Amino acid sequence: MGHLAIKNLSKIYGSPDSTGSVVALRDVTLEVQNHQFCAILGHSGCGKTTLLNIAAGFEPPTTGTVAVDDVPIRVPGWQNTMIFQDYALFPWMDVCQNIAFGLEMKKLPTHKRKDITRHYVDLVGLVGFENKFPHQLSGGMRQRVAIARALAVQPHLLLMDEPFAALDAQNRTILQAELVRLWEETGKTVIYITHSIEEALLLGDRCVLMTAQPGRIKRVIDIPFSHPRDVIAMVQHAEPAVGAEPGRSHRCACCEHRAGRREEDRREHRPRQRRERPDDARAARRRHAREAV
Ligand SMILES: Nc1ncnc2c1ncn2[C@@H]1O[C@H](COP(=O)(O)OP(=O)(O)OP(=O)(O)O)[C@@H](O)[C@H]1O
Ligand SMILES: [Mg+2]
Repeated sequence: MGHLAIKNLSKIYGSPDSTGSVVALRDVTLEVQNHQFCAILGHSGCGKTTLLNIAAGFEPPTTGTVAVDDVPIRVPGWQNTMIFQDYALFPWMDVCQNIAFGLEMKKLPTHKRKDITRHYVDLVGLVGFENKFPHQLSGGMRQRVAIARALAVQPHLLLMDEPFAALDAQNRTILQAELVRLWEETGKTVIYITHSIEEALLLGDRCVLMTAQPGRIKRVIDIPFSHPRDVIAMVQHAEPAVGAEPGRSHRCACCEHRAGRREEDRREHRPRQRRERPDDARAARRRHAREAV
């Protein structure tokens, strides 16, 4: 469950004939497989949030369709939950009440709600904070609550709009690793919006690059590495494989390993680590940024 199919999607805000109308998306077609982690990258204003809002059922498309498991999305529902940059928690509810919110909407009995809530409090590492209110939590903890709330309803699709952008670098790194762990444990399909090429490479199975406004799909890159990832090692040791034509494989520059597209190749591959100088890391990031966009 969780196969997303977007077909020929366009979104125009305002009347198409009026001068003030904005073409946010034009002819977007994208497929994301069940259990896939899809990172979407694009400039500010290219329509990323619009795309997620349509996939969540918050906005209707102007033309085209969005379907999850062949069911067209027209209204919001627990099947497609969204996690926002600003957490969007209910300030008058404590951690448990926030997490249980969607379960009440699903009309689950009280004892089940409590069990599920306890499970997700534990999963996101908030044991001991169950009765705290959002204003008593750090930004990272608030986002953990938002993730737990979204996962608790067992959605088919998890839509994340720059969820860690407001966090400091240390918290972001911790939550990125946590997210990968949760994704592997729960097997959800994730659509993850980000401005950061590094974050997209770190998290995504599939990276989608969008053009500037109006947003269109510029390129789809399948990332042939398993998690957990080290972006710098990935770029330096198997650069040719990123963005390569499907079906082609390449030798890793340092260890002669075949960094191909077969699952077993990727699992076996352990690039040799070497101590980075800061200059090397910066140069690798710049080189990769140039090639990816
Ligand atoms: N409700 C709205 N009414 C009119 N125009 C809108 C509306 N929402 C978004 N837009 C316009 O649509 C375009 C895409 O907006 P969107 O928020 O989807 O971009 P984005 O890629 O998410 O940007 P950012 O990275 O800054 O969050 C922008 O030009 C924006 O001004
Ligand atoms: Mg946005």
